[in-house]
This record gives sequence, C-alpha cells and structure tokens, in this order.
Amino acid sequence: MAQALKIGIAGLGTVGASTIRILTAAHNELAERAGRPIEIVAISARSKGKDRGVELGAYRWYDDPVALAADPDVELVVELMGGAEGSAKALIEAALSLGKPVVTANKALLAAHGPALATLAEQKGTTIAFEAAAAGGIPVIKALREALVGNKISRVSGILNGTCNYILSRMEAEGLDFAQCLKAAQDLGYAEADPTFDIEGYDTAHKLALLSALAFGTEVDGDAVYVEGISNVTPLDLEMAEELGFRIKLLGVAERTAQGVEQRVHPTFVSRSSQLASVMGVTNAVAIEAEPVGTITLVGPGAGGGATASAVVGDIVDLARGNQVATFGRPSQALEKPVRAPMQRHEGGYYIRLQVMDRPGAAAIIATRMAERGISLESILQKGRGARRSESGAVPVILITYATTELLIRNAVAAIAEDGVLDGPPQVIRIER
Ligand code: HSE
Repeated sequence: MAQALKIGIAGLGTVGASTIRILTAAHNELAERAGRPIEIVAISARSKGKDRGVELGAYRWYDDPVALAADPDVELVVELMGGAEGSAKALIEAALSLGKPVVTANKALLAAHGPALATLAEQKGTTIAFEAAAAGGIPVIKALREALVGNKISRVSGILNGTCNYILSRMEAEGLDFAQCLKAAQDLGYAEADPTFDIEGYDTAHKLALLSALAFGTEVDGDAVYVEGISNVTPLDLEMAEELGFRIKLLGVAERTAQGVEQRVHPTFVSRSSQLASVMGVTNAVAIEAEPVGTITLVGPGAGGGATASAVVGDIVDLARGNQVATFGRPSQALEKPVRAPMQRHEGGYYIRLQVMDRPGAAAIIATRMAERGISLESILQKGRGARRSESGAVPVILITYATTELLIRNAVAAIAEDGVLDGPPQVIRIER
C-alpha cells in the first residue's frame, strides 16, 4: 500500500471531533478505499484541556494553527475553526502557500475570499475542497463541480440552513414561539456560534454564493446576495400560509435571468405540494435545474457533527486518492465576473400582510394603490373583527398577488403606508410557484 497521507486538523468542535471519530473508527476501511492510510499527526484548537469525547493523546498539539500548517509532517490541512477572517484565513493561506491542500467547512470565509484563495491554491499547484461548506452531509458541491459538468445549469435553489428549517418547522407544527425554537436548535448543536448568521440568512447566503459560483462558472460573489432572515416571520404568517396552501421556508435561490445572475435569500411561500415544502426539521434540500439532465433534488441532513464530518472525510479521501479538482471546478482565470441582477427587477408573486385600520374605504385605498401599478391580485383575505382586531382597531389583511416586480411591490406598499391606513409594519414574503 502507498505511503500514509499525514493530516493536521485545526478546530475541534462538534465537526472536528466527529471527523477524528470517523477517521479512527474506519481507519482500515478508509485506507483500502483511498489506496493509502490516512494518519492524523497534528491538531490545534483553542482549549487543550477540554473533554471532546475523543482520544487526542497521540497527536502533536499546536496552540497556533499557522504553526500546524507549517509542520513539515503535515501534508493536508483540515480547517474546521470557522470565521471569515483571523486565524482560519491565516491558517488556510499558510497551508496553500506551502502547496498543501486544504479541506474546509468554512462557507463564510470562502464567500468572502474564495476567488483570492482559489488563485493562491492554483499558483501553488494545490486546491481547496469544501464539500462540508454547503448543505452539510449532502454531496452537492461534488454534484455541481464534477457529476453535472455535462450540463448547463439555469437555477439552484434550496433549503440550506438546518437551524432555520428546524425553527420554522417547529413553530408551524407545535405553535411554539421563535425564541423557544432557536434555543432548541442551539441545544442540538445545529446553530452557528452566533445565531444571527443562521436566523438572519447570512449562513444561507454564504452557501448560496458557493453553489452559484459552481453552477454558473462565475467568481464567488458573496456581496451580491440579497438577504432577509426569518426573525420577522410570525405565527400568523405560518397560519396564513397553511390556510392558503403554502409553507414558509427560508430559501436560497440563484438563477440566470435576462438581467444577470440573481442571488437571493428570504423567507418564501412554497406550495405545500412541492418537494421543498415536505422538507422538515434540520434537513436541507437543493434543487438543481439543468439541461439536458432536468431537475435533480438532493435531500439530506444539513447540519450537525456527523453529517458535516461525513463531507469532510469524503474530501480527505478524495485528496488521498489524488483526485484534485480546481477549487471552483475550473481554472480561476476561466471564472467569469458575474453580472449582478438587481433585486428590484425580481419577478414573482407576493404575499403581503397588512395590519389595516378597520374603517370604511381602507380596503379601497389598498386596492387602488395596487391597481395604479398594474399589480393584479389573486386573493384578498381579511381576518374579521373578533380576536384578531387589535386594541387600536386594526385587522390583518392578506393579499396574494400574481407575478409582478419587486420594485412595484415596494412602491405600492410604501404608498399604502403613506395613506395612513396601516397600524404596524407591512409583512412582504415572496412566493415561488
Ligand atoms: N448552522 C448551520 C445550519 C450548519 O443550521 O444549517 C452549518 O452550516
């Protein structure tokens, strides 16, 4: 058998510990499958003494991850520290500069610095493997970068954040409030260290930017993603969605439009009969629309130590086998600069929930503002007086529009707000049919 591949792992959180567990428990089988043993020789983390439930005594310890990368024994670096800047970036740059391949789960870092790091890797004759950076255990990076190279991809959409899907699923199923569900997700180890990344949509945006670059052969353009999170979604929105035949999901969508590449992350009404609507809990799903293959939907665990470590180990074994693919699937020079499609030109249907003063003429004003902009309404629902009427005398009015543009919707909602018929901020949620 060929010589062992010696690796260093920096970051020993849930994913790092699970990776060590897999590499040690399946050592012989992985050696057979890779054609050479994979030996962990060095590790690095913030705290040496912490009990992680795995035996670490046999590995060289580094307080400084950059020193781990420089260890002459280490041939491949696994970065599981997280963070777009700081130590993780320094470690990856150090490893690549020495021509050592990097395996990482760090979507925030790749969304911010992907093009520069891919260029550095290429200059040094090495690569960055990042299957674990998007959709956890679902092998979507490999699918886009390798298995689907014979296709022209027009759209990638999906549920890319387990925490958000878990929160929305539990809010819907059990009528729990947002804070209770977030706490449960954190206790289960799904949420990022800073939950803002999950609930405000940034984690989904980072992942989407990576998928978009692979799908369209463009440079990663993390700043171009339009982002809205789920913290403003209310139990009433979930109830209305159900009544109208939808479910609310935090979707990431990247598609080619006539204006350029549209990348957006926002809560979305999806038809209850769609595949994505049936994806509940921490599960992720990615739908890829491609020609000639058609639509492929991949569904699986999107967060948690085991699922993410599964992807990390897949990458390590790939590199042990000598299967080195350009970081973003093609040479950096061949990646196009993406043309950004402005969100205001987005076209689609909308759910609008307005808290409307319950007085004669209010509905007529709303209908007029919509009609003035040529927005056609598919349905209007007023949730009567009774329990839904606020102390100030406002009732929820729900509008579902046919396809229109983001710009017209924003104009119409702003005009309605100026008319003084609302009591509270409007809720606008896009619909994907
Ligand atoms: N916090 C992420 C999620 C997992 O909830 O999906 C890691 O990407």
